[in-house]
Amino acid sequence: MAGSGTAHLRVEDKRVLTVENLVVEFPAGKQTVHAVSGISFDLIPGETLGIVGESGCGKSTAGRAIMQLPRPTSGEVVLDGIDLGGLSAGNLRQIRAQMQMIMQDPISSLNPRRKVKHLITEGLRIWGVKDRTKLEEMGRDMLNSVGLDPDMVWEKTPGELSGGQCQRVCIARALMLKPKLLICDEPVSSLDVSVQAQILNLLEETKREFEFTMIFIAHNMAVVKNISDRMMVMYLGKVCEVAPTPDVQHTALHPYTRLLLASIPDPNRDRNAEDEVEAIEGDLPSPLNPPSGCRFRTRCPLATERCAVEEPLLREVGTDHFVACHNV
Ligand SMILES: Nc1ncnc2c1ncn2[C@@H]1O[C@H](COP(=O)(O)OP(=O)(O)OP(=O)(O)O)[C@@H](O)[C@H]1O
Ligand code: SF4
Ligand SMILES: [Mg+2]
Repeated sequence: MAGSGTAHLRVEDKRVLTVENLVVEFPAGKQTVHAVSGISFDLIPGETLGIVGESGCGKSTAGRAIMQLPRPTSGEVVLDGIDLGGLSAGNLRQIRAQMQMIMQDPISSLNPRRKVKHLITEGLRIWGVKDRTKLEEMGRDMLNSVGLDPDMVWEKTPGELSGGQCQRVCIARALMLKPKLLICDEPVSSLDVSVQAQILNLLEETKREFEFTMIFIAHNMAVVKNISDRMMVMYLGKVCEVAPTPDVQHTALHPYTRLLLASIPDPNRDRNAEDEVEAIEGDLPSPLNPPSGCRFRTRCPLATERCAVEEPLLREVGTDHFVACHNV
C-alpha cells in the first residue's frame, strides 16, 4: 500500500472536502518522521468516510492536518471551495467553526476544571453569542440531542462523568457550531462495548438531524464498516485501497485490507478455519525510514521484486473501487 495517486477523486463540484497530496512530516533530530506521505481523498455532502489502519499509520495526523492543526508540510485541503492552506490565521479561525474534530481521548480532551455548561457553550461564546439565556437554552437542547439529561450534567465537571458521558459532551460541543464537517478520531475505542454501540448510533442519528459530512477514524475495521459509506485503508502514511463500505468484506482486493478484514473476529467462522486466518506478520516499519517502493512490501504475502522499486498508484478496479497494488 503504499500507494499514491488521485484517480479516486470525484467530480470537483460535488465535493465538500478535497484533500490532495497531503504530506505531514515532523523533525526528529537529524531525521524526519514521514507520518503522512501524499494521501488524497474527498467527501461529498452527507457522506461518511471511514479511515482505517494500524496504530501509527497516520490517521490522526491526517485528521489534524485537515483542521490545519498544525498546517501540513505540503498538499491541499479545500473545504467548500476554499483552500485552507492559503488562509491567514484570522480567516482560518473563521472557517474552523465549519469543521470540528472529536479527539481520540474523550476525557483528556475536555478541560477537567470546566463545568459541562461552560464546555458546551464555549464555542458559541467565542463566536459572539453573549445572551446567557439563549446560550443555556441552546446548550441544554444539544445535551438532550446527545442523550444527556441537562439537569444531571449541567453543573458537573468531566471527572464527575463516565467515559461515555464525556464522549457525548464532546459530540454535543462539536455540534454546537453546526459544522459542515465532523472528524471523529477513534471516538469509541476507549469506551466499553455496550457504550460503543450507543455512541455509534448517536453519531448516525445526529448526522441525520444536523446534516453534516463525517470522517470516522478507527483502527478497528469492524467499527468503520458499520458506520461509513466509503472506506479508505491507510498504511504507513499512504493509501492502499478506497472502496464502498457495504460490500468491502467481499470485494476488498488489497493484501493489507484483506488481512485487516480477516483479523475481525467472526463468530460464524469455524474453529479450524479460524486457525487458517492469515495474520499480519511483523510490526509497522519505522516512519523515519519507510520501505522503498510499496511501503507494505516488508509484510506483504504477495510482494515481488517490482514492489521494492516502484510505488503502486491507485487505479480503478470496480465501481468507485480503487487499489494501489502491482499484483491484484
Ligand atoms: N507531533 C509529532 N511529532 C513527531 N512524530 C509524530 C507527531 N505526531 C505523530 N507522530 C508520528 O507520526 C506517526 C503517525 O501518528 P498518528 O498519531 O497519526 O497515527 P495513528 O494512525 O493515529 O495511530 P493510533 O491508531 O495509535 O492513534 C507515528 O509514527 C507517530 O509517532
Ligand atoms: S503485492 Fe507488492 S504492491 Fe501489492 S501490496 Fe504487496 S508489496 Fe505492495
Ligand atoms: Mg490516532
